[in-house]
Amino acid sequence: MAIERVGVIGGGLMGSGIAEVCARAGSEVVVHEIDAAAAESALGRVEASLGKAVDRGKLDATQREEILARITVATDLDRQSDRDLIIEAATESEELKREIFGSLDRIAPNDAILASNTSSIPITRLAAATSRPSQVVGLHFFNPVPVMALVELVTTVKTADETTKEVRSYAESLGKTVILAKDRAGFVVNMLLVPYMLAAIRMYEAGVASAEDIDTGMRLGANHPMGPLELTDFVGLDTTKFVADVLFDEFKEPLYASPPLLTRMVEAGLHGRKTGEGFYQY
Ligand code: CAA
Ligand code: NAD
Repeated sequence: MAIERVGVIGGGLMGSGIAEVCARAGSEVVVHEIDAAAAESALGRVEASLGKAVDRGKLDATQREEILARITVATDLDRQSDRDLIIEAATESEELKREIFGSLDRIAPNDAILASNTSSIPITRLAAATSRPSQVVGLHFFNPVPVMALVELVTTVKTADETTKEVRSYAESLGKTVILAKDRAGFVVNMLLVPYMLAAIRMYEAGVASAEDIDTGMRLGANHPMGPLELTDFVGLDTTKFVADVLFDEFKEPLYASPPLLTRMVEAGLHGRKTGEGFYQY
């Protein structure tokens, strides 16, 4: 089966980027959002990112228009009824994602593949909400999606080899490098990256150094493009805490436990760049 028609569920930070890279590669994309305002914001994010790509000389204005013409936003889930591949990128909540997978299973064509961009939730649990676990995978993109070269392809004990092959080849057609991961919370990258981000928050909370000095330390001392606190603001403190909670639940290791400061900041609505304030003000 050739993947041509793609659905994306959730057009936030990640969903809008996923829609953009799929449309750039020539797919026709329908992005589902919860209401008209969220759908409008999703389209606005794609337009802003394509505008940036034009400004940087990566695309010309004609290509931008062609890419935009391949993306539709919708608030009716039935619009996913003719998709070949549906990539779920809604808020990191197992309950919400299970509900979405159950609905997609009823709506999508029988041969459609269902994928989740979850940062941490075991894919087996989402596949169990469907009648087609052999056609369910994790397809984990990185932020910002148009720039980051990696995709993690997560398979469960039930994923069919054919599904893995098709999704791998589609992800490669987007210009991404694919790594394969078994279905363990956090997969490969977040199992390593998230404890590092949490350690930086604990260091800041303990008053060892200022946020700026911790970030400058890792930028200049380890050549990371962003320091760990800047990166947490970039990923979203809410998403980081959700991921930490899933990892802690899976492994029961203190290194995955959300530091009290992170929990309090999330409770206070300081979610990082997307809300205008996290460890820094935006
Ligand atoms: N479309 C196409 N290209 C774009 C673009 C867009 N919308 N926006 C930027 N670019 C390109 C630029 O043209 C530039 O390319 P060249 O090097 O070829 O010129 C490159 O991307 C870098 O862009 P900028 O100069 O604007 O930005 P920067 O140098 O300040 O880098 C950054 C920005 C890429 C975000 C960098 O800071 C970075 O890599 N940060 C770390 C990101 C990271 O670690 N992400 C992973 C987060 S964890 C995750 O995603 C997993 C999870 O589950 C939570
Ligand atoms: P976000 O908060 O920016 O976007 C989530 C979007 O989902 C919102 O626009 C929201 O309106 C929408 N949504 C919620 N319920 C929905 C529903 N029932 N149907 C359709 N849309 C719905 O979050 P994000 O950062 O884009 O994260 C999305 C997913 O991607 C999460 O699973 C997250 O763990 C994962 N992820 C995030 C990052 C990151 O750096 N932020 C990186 C990789 C993966």
